[in-house]
Amino acid sequence: FVNADLVVVGSGFFGLTIAERAATELGLKVAVLDRRHHIGGNAYSENEAQTGIEVHRYGAHLFHTSNERVWEYVNRFTKFTSYQHKVYTSHKGEVYPMPINLGTINQFFRSAMSPTEAKALIAEQAGELAGTDPQNLNDKGIQLIGRPLYEAFIKHYTGKQWQTDPKDLPAEIISRLPVRYNYDNRYFNDTYEGLPVDGYTAWIERMADHPNIEVVLNSDFFEDGEYGRSSVLGQVPVIYTGPVDRYFDYAEGDLSWRTIDLEEEVLPIEDFQGCSVMNYPDADAAFTRIHEFRHFHPERDYTKDATVIMREFSRFAEKGDEPYYPVNTSDDRQKLLAYRDLAKGEKSVLFGGRLGTYKYLDMHMAIGSALSMFDNKIKPHFTGGAKLE
Ligand code: FDA
Repeated sequence: FVNADLVVVGSGFFGLTIAERAATELGLKVAVLDRRHHIGGNAYSENEAQTGIEVHRYGAHLFHTSNERVWEYVNRFTKFTSYQHKVYTSHKGEVYPMPINLGTINQFFRSAMSPTEAKALIAEQAGELAGTDPQNLNDKGIQLIGRPLYEAFIKHYTGKQWQTDPKDLPAEIISRLPVRYNYDNRYFNDTYEGLPVDGYTAWIERMADHPNIEVVLNSDFFEDGEYGRSSVLGQVPVIYTGPVDRYFDYAEGDLSWRTIDLEEEVLPIEDFQGCSVMNYPDADAAFTRIHEFRHFHPERDYTKDATVIMREFSRFAEKGDEPYYPVNTSDDRQKLLAYRDLAKGEKSVLFGGRLGTYKYLDMHMAIGSALSMFDNKIKPHFTGGAKLE
């Protein structure tokens, strides 16, 4: 006997959206399991103990969407600030705006080019490899934006992200490198953008705050327990948002992921870098970027005596590391197809979210896809007896 109508594995945005809808709209009793000690998956944040500054524990999380339904849904649980994300990059002792735009280009070439002139210059520089079919990321980068900009802002940054010389990376990793021929350096182009006014964790806790939702932390689905695999499979429907290869005991091989290491430091100064994210595209720094969390909430009355920064290092994930970004080589895609076939055979289990589908999903995409799964599969199953597959 299982004391729930639905078991959700993983309390990230995907799992919590399913749980909230199932409890609120269908009145179902939902158990949400997570192997971590907290809810929220990778969007989890907490206040750093010494300074009270909110830090995103698994890397910076910026909310943005153009999806009306998702925007309406998330506003049920939190208000958003008017924060607009902007990124800068520190190259050879000079700071430039990102993504590459007319400001970056004119600063880099010590010029005052118009959009038309800048376009012509970049086209000419990209022409170095015109008509060739680049076989590695390095050549592809040069072909897209020309050697000078590529070597300054992309080459080493990408090399650090992958811990691999871009000459040894497949060209397919990048299909385009955005260059803006105006001075707009707003990072996201979405209709809605902002950060949760009282933090990610407050938002996430409100989603789970329903008498029909039971959250069980420090609990791995693959270990024995009230809602562990051996107790619930075949008894109640399961929504699984953990890694799909883990579910099938890596039968088709391991899917490859990149992970990040975050090094936090509290500094006894008010402001370290003057912005929330500074990229480091040169080879001499091992990290890719530095986050300074106070800048995500300029509206808050944070201490002026200290600031919290996080250096981000990026590398291929090994077993036991947190899987963050799918590498997605053609070998991975083959394995994924095999896992998808296996998943179809799991009759009362639905796979969702970033890890369950092996897809990088922004928060709004994870929420949007959970709302669709709820409408198309879960609701019909519980209200009309449709099969859950
Ligand atoms: P998520 O990974 O959040 O949750 C899965 C949960 O399942 C985890 O809590 C895990 O512990 C649990 N779990 C796994 N296996 C289990 C098992 N066997 N038993 C029990 N529990 C298990 N998005 C965005 O919109 N803006 C941004 O700026 C960023 N930034 C960003 C930075 C980094 C470094 C990453 C990796 C991701 C982002 N994202 C983002 C993406 C965002 O984190 C993502 O959309 C959500 O994590 C997706 O939520 P999910 O619920 O799919 O997975």
